Amino acid sequence: MKKILLTGGTGYIGSHIAVALAREGYSPVIADNFSRSDRRIAERIRELCGRAVPVYEADCRDINALRNLRDREGHLDGVIHLAAFKSVGESVRKPAAYFDNNIGSMSVLSAFIKESKIPHFVFSSSCTVYGSPEVREVTEETPFGKAFSPYGYTKQACERLTHDLVRAEPWLKVVSLRYFNPIGAHPSGRLGELPGGIPDNLLPYITQTAVGEREALTVFGEDYDTPDGSCVRDYVHVCDVAEAHVRALAYLADAEHSPEVFNIGTGKGHSVKEIIDIFSRVNGVPLKVIHGPRRPGDVDAIYANVDKATEVLDWKSTYTVEDALKHAWEWQKSLVNF
Ligand code: UFG
Repeated sequence: MKKILLTGGTGYIGSHIAVALAREGYSPVIADNFSRSDRRIAERIRELCGRAVPVYEADCRDINALRNLRDREGHLDGVIHLAAFKSVGESVRKPAAYFDNNIGSMSVLSAFIKESKIPHFVFSSSCTVYGSPEVREVTEETPFGKAFSPYGYTKQACERLTHDLVRAEPWLKVVSLRYFNPIGAHPSGRLGELPGGIPDNLLPYITQTAVGEREALTVFGEDYDTPDGSCVRDYVHVCDVAEAHVRALAYLADAEHSPEVFNIGTGKGHSVKEIIDIFSRVNGVPLKVIHGPRRPGDVDAIYANVDKATEVLDWKSTYTVEDALKHAWEWQKSLVNF
């Protein structure tokens, strides 16, 4: 069974990837420093995987912690790297912390991959690398834009590092997956997003408002150049995002080209107002909504062209946005017993 090191494996996306890997016959080995995740998720992952999944408390900036993991686990066949901070707003307030954590962990992990001769590497990137593009439907050929935030800059820098790594170590095969807006939760209701404090992102804010933890949801801007004036994004179910990693590993086993990048979205845009309406309709829950000014740094509309992932990875999203909004609501309601 191929062993895959999954950094940040108890986080929102990582936990869903762990379950998808186990289902496909991989053996996930999780490294997480728990700075942004909950230790109890490890048990949920084991429950859904139906077997033991090793979880190491390890910070990717600490090469000795990674070496300790390798000494115990033996040869690793691949790495999926998610361990990073991911809040655009926080990165503006704490730029040095984002450089230290996101770029620091990538560079130490790269040294570890080299010394351990781990042949396959999947990097968790983001559509934030496109900045504010001139087109709304972006392909992988759309150039990097000006990074709007330190967070965005760290994703660009890490992607660039993958190119330099492969040039220096041609035996290493790398894929970067540029996620659009992952939403939803595991259909079992056992895994989902656990934002600490006040959420930055739309979905947890919606579900927390619906459950009464927040008074009202603010729509940030209604004067954008979009059909209803609110921003348009490509919301993709987190289980589809997880499946893309399984496909990326399969691609790397026989990679024709490396490093390679893929957009991971649905190919469709939904506005903030549409998401609010669909959430209320499919779940039968009214939401108190107020109207606010634009949020600094937001682009009016961006969604993925997913032709490349479809053709090369044989991947495309399978869940609808309605499914994702139902699963997100089931997860939120289940948290009373968490
Ligand atoms: N929004 C609201 N109200 C809220 C929260 C969000 O109206 O309370 C709006 C935002 O203005 C935006 C949309 O909902 O138009 C989506 O916002 P999110 O914060 O959920 O997501 P972003 O598109 O800003 O950010 C996402 C990821 C980042 C990634 C970025 C790339 O969260 O990790 O896409 O653009 F970098």
